[in-house]
Amino acid sequence: MVSTRTTIGSFQFDNCLMNAAGVYCMTREELAAIDQSAAGSFVTKTGTLKERPGNPEPRYADTALGSINSMGLPNLGYHYYLDYVMELQDRPKSKNHFLSLVGMSPEETHTILKSVEASDYKGLVELNLSCPNVPGKPQIAYDFETTDQILSEVFSYFTKPLGIKLPPYFDIVHFDQAAAIFNKYPLAFVNCVNSIGNGLVVEDETVLIKPKNGFGGIGGDYIKPTALANVHAFYKRLNPSIQIIGTGGVKTGRDAFEHILCGASMVQIGTALHQEGPQIFERITKELEEIMTEKGYESLEDFRGKLNYKA
Ligand code: DHB
Repeated sequence: MVSTRTTIGSFQFDNCLMNAAGVYCMTREELAAIDQSAAGSFVTKTGTLKERPGNPEPRYADTALGSINSMGLPNLGYHYYLDYVMELQDRPKSKNHFLSLVGMSPEETHTILKSVEASDYKGLVELNLSCPNVPGKPQIAYDFETTDQILSEVFSYFTKPLGIKLPPYFDIVHFDQAAAIFNKYPLAFVNCVNSIGNGLVVEDETVLIKPKNGFGGIGGDYIKPTALANVHAFYKRLNPSIQIIGTGGVKTGRDAFEHILCGASMVQIGTALHQEGPQIFERITKELEEIMTEKGYESLEDFRGKLNYKA
């Protein structure tokens, strides 16, 4: 009997696969569709203090090898998502969920997190330190000093299970520096990776999306090697109490298998979910189970992090 069950902190999930923030998670209806699919959980669209319309359309495009987006954090406001996950948590046999959040400034982030702290929400929070698409707002987690400052303040009042969504890093020294900061805090998880920020896709003689003259976050096939590198780099560097969620370039059971092999405890699907819809979770779960059966693995623990190196 193979099982793709997993845990993050004290939370159990019947399946390690779920959506990535930003895809299929804007409304209750979309979140309910993920909840009722074969996915083990969902994460909400990143909620901000106030509702946001986001950037002008077209702002998302599928490409041959993945996707490019510059959504600009459109969302219905964090309270909409907080209300929904709190409603679900009271239902018998509810799955566990992730509430994604960030403010448009550190002050707003603290206002939101203090409100969540004061609420009856008992689930996980994913603090998004890596949106690449809001004009004039850099990806927070590329600024180590600000990131350290935000986390230090957050953990002075926030006692619920919290993890962070990270942008991809591209330098070994940055892995070392980032990990040294994250290891100072009681994080439940880090999620590697968000889209590769500010790529440009050209078709004929024109860009594909309207905001920022076509610059946008890249997802899909392009980013799997970067995602696996980030998952494994942080798996090797972080305290064992900080688990890894793997996100980036997952469209087959083999891709999910590789993320787990690199150290992921849970695997999120963005671009491919956007292309295929929530039935993708059934297909990829089946493909992952087939690989596990073939290799004689019964649970994720049998191979998580057990990546082989060349002698
Ligand atoms: C948005 C896009 C992202 O790739 C992300 O990680 C967070 C937010 C957005 O533009 O809404």
